[in-house]
Amino acid sequence: MISIKPVTPEFVAEIGDVDLARLTDAVFAEIEAAFNRYAVLVFHRQPISEEQQLAFAKYFGELEFSPQPFVQTPGDKRRIGVGMQDISNLDENGKLLTHTDNRRLINLANQFWHTDSTFKRTPAKMSMLTAQSVSPTGGETEFADMRAAWDALPAARREPLEGLIAEHDYFRTRLMVGLDPESISPERRALRPAVPQVLIRTHPANGRKSLYLASHITKIYGMDDAAARRLVDELTEHATQPAFTYQHHWAVGDVVLWDNRCTMHRGRPFDESQPRAMRRATISDVGPTVPENWHHAA
Ligand SMILES: [Fe+2]
Repeated sequence: MISIKPVTPEFVAEIGDVDLARLTDAVFAEIEAAFNRYAVLVFHRQPISEEQQLAFAKYFGELEFSPQPFVQTPGDKRRIGVGMQDISNLDENGKLLTHTDNRRLINLANQFWHTDSTFKRTPAKMSMLTAQSVSPTGGETEFADMRAAWDALPAARREPLEGLIAEHDYFRTRLMVGLDPESISPERRALRPAVPQVLIRTHPANGRKSLYLASHITKIYGMDDAAARRLVDELTEHATQPAFTYQHHWAVGDVVLWDNRCTMHRGRPFDESQPRAMRRATISDVGPTVPENWHHAA
């Protein structure tokens, strides 16, 4: 039996008595039950390899494929193997990225509150970060419980939100951190078109409803742009109050995974003169939140 120690009563739990390098179906079933009850799971002192991380992640479903609009290096040389996102400030040779490197800018966008891959038609179900080297100062990851945020809204506030559909765009947050708009060629744009997502989700395993927000939101269909911005900003502020959030301080060997269907997260700034290296494995959800044949009647 794994041990489950709640870090917060309903949102974050620390999982012990498990060796992530040697998982079995039975142990995974216990982890999955905890994942469906809490939304963020923390494992300490589990220095798993890339292969072991991928194997663990794949228990949750299908690995996400991520077309990169910005080629990393000539020949697409990578610091880590294919199949995972490189969440580090290092280049393909393990050297610190320069200030103007596009990879640094793209990672900076992680510091806005978001949910992973909402800019894809089928967004992410689960993300798993592992820490290989951590920043001595800063670099925490903060999580927001979007179920608790929904539960706390008065009924009169909830009702008009049901059925709303928002547009999410990968490039919104990248432009916010200073990506050159001129660098978004039609080919790059075509790799990441803006997509619709529901604003309220229901969790398939536990039936709980949650707000589905991200800084990638550009508009809400059928709503005036200024009103939509106000609504999204107000809901984001509501959902990220201290009462609904948890901050994780990283240590080498930590494995943290979260349910993107009912949480938001953001990275915190850190000392960029020091190496910080993490890897993210991401599992796709089972399908789009808005049917493929949906079209907004203008
Ligand atoms: Fe993220």
